Amino acid sequence: MTPGDRSPSGEARPGVLETRGGWPYPRWIAHRGAGLLAPENTIAAFRAGAANGFRMFECDARLSADGEVFLLHDDLLERTTDGHGAAVEFDWAALSRLDAGSWHGPGYAGERLPTLAGVIQECEAHGWMLNVEIKPAPGDEERTGRRVGEVLRAQWRSAPPPLLSSFSLPALAAAASAAPGVPRALLCERLVPGWRSCAARLGCVAIVAAQAAWNEETAKVVAEAGFRRLAYTVNTDAEAARLAALGLEGLITDRVDHFPG
Ligand code: G3P
Ligand code: MG
Repeated sequence: MTPGDRSPSGEARPGVLETRGGWPYPRWIAHRGAGLLAPENTIAAFRAGAANGFRMFECDARLSADGEVFLLHDDLLERTTDGHGAAVEFDWAALSRLDAGSWHGPGYAGERLPTLAGVIQECEAHGWMLNVEIKPAPGDEERTGRRVGEVLRAQWRSAPPPLLSSFSLPALAAAASAAPGVPRALLCERLVPGWRSCAARLGCVAIVAAQAAWNEETAKVVAEAGFRRLAYTVNTDAEAARLAALGLEGLITDRVDHFPG
């Protein structure tokens, strides 16, 4: 229990930000909210994923110049908004006015970039679970990890807590310092030498790796080391069956209209 696990009046919120002994998350997780069905990393995407039965959502979180945590996959604004340039160079006031939906289709015109705080509010209102991937701009790793941790610690109230993940070790370490009770996962393309000590040092509970990284040997070694195992991005029946047979605990998919949530 840390100070952030207490309400403003001081009473404890037991277990709110503590990792539970079991694995509380569902096997299927919607990638970027709803995969390809709606504009990624928007509230509309979460709603589309939920409409297809998904209860847990992976999303990509980064920082504005003035320190707001919001969802966006790319460093640059061009692909998924009507803005131009590096997102990290803009204050939230400017980013919040961008259209993050029209690129996907006219039905989503006017959809905004969501703040992580807004996403948390939406998730808690509906009982949805989150996997927050910390996606820092180059050079912004420590600040991004710390701010993501601070927002989760200040805002998230219901159990189970979000699962934090990142390819960036400095970002994950900073998030761990800011929100030690939020469970973390090491995110990697494949298992590289030293993965085990790295995950242990960061207090990780899981390894999230590209689907090709998982085979009988890696699935066994990682489980025996005490970590849960998740794969991204699982979009075919053949891969889903192969990974399920390996016993993986989590499968992140774009195909929210195909796989069960
Ligand atoms: O978190 C898993 C997956 O989202 C990592 O790849 O590029 O889609 O963020 P990317
Ligand atoms: Mg991601």
